[in-house]
Amino acid sequence: MAIERTLSIIKPDATRRNLTGQINARLEEAELRIVAQKRVRLTLDQAQAFYDVHKERAFFEDLCNFMITGPVVVQVLEGEDAIAKNREVMGATNPANADEGTIRKDFAESIEANSVHGSDATETAVREISFFFSELEIVG
Ligand code: RTP
Ligand code: MG
Repeated sequence: MAIERTLSIIKPDATRRNLTGQINARLEEAELRIVAQKRVRLTLDQAQAFYDVHKERAFFEDLCNFMITGPVVVQVLEGEDAIAKNREVMGATNPANADEGTIRKDFAESIEANSVHGSDATETAVREISFFFSELEIVG
């Protein structure tokens, strides 16, 4: 296993409920290191550009509108096998199917308002990290 970086987003449903610290604690307990982090309010254009891969999906418009309902915390996580490990800590997309002890099981409100985003593959992680951060802003 290699040291990887992945992009994580704490979504508006979670920032609204003041869960940033609790979610960060789950990430750190899983030995994921937060090597960059900022709180931003996305524009609709930015949300649509970020989720471009989903533009043909039925949920695309709702998802983009949800992502601009409040601030998000975007972060780069670093660690052994970070992409898969973060997906494990997050749990299944639909909280109804998420394992006990995962972030989505414990915090998500619905399949859409599911508290966190995590990159799903190496290439996606590279694209998503560079969407929000320059190399200078990432300090491992
Ligand atoms: P993410 O990209 O946010 O880490 O989540 P994921 O891989 O588990 O899910 P994905 O299939 O990539 O979907 C992206 C986000 O779209 C919303 N969604 N809504 N209403 C629906 O059926 C539906 N399906 C997906 C969720 O916010 C999901 O995280
Ligand atoms: Mg995804």
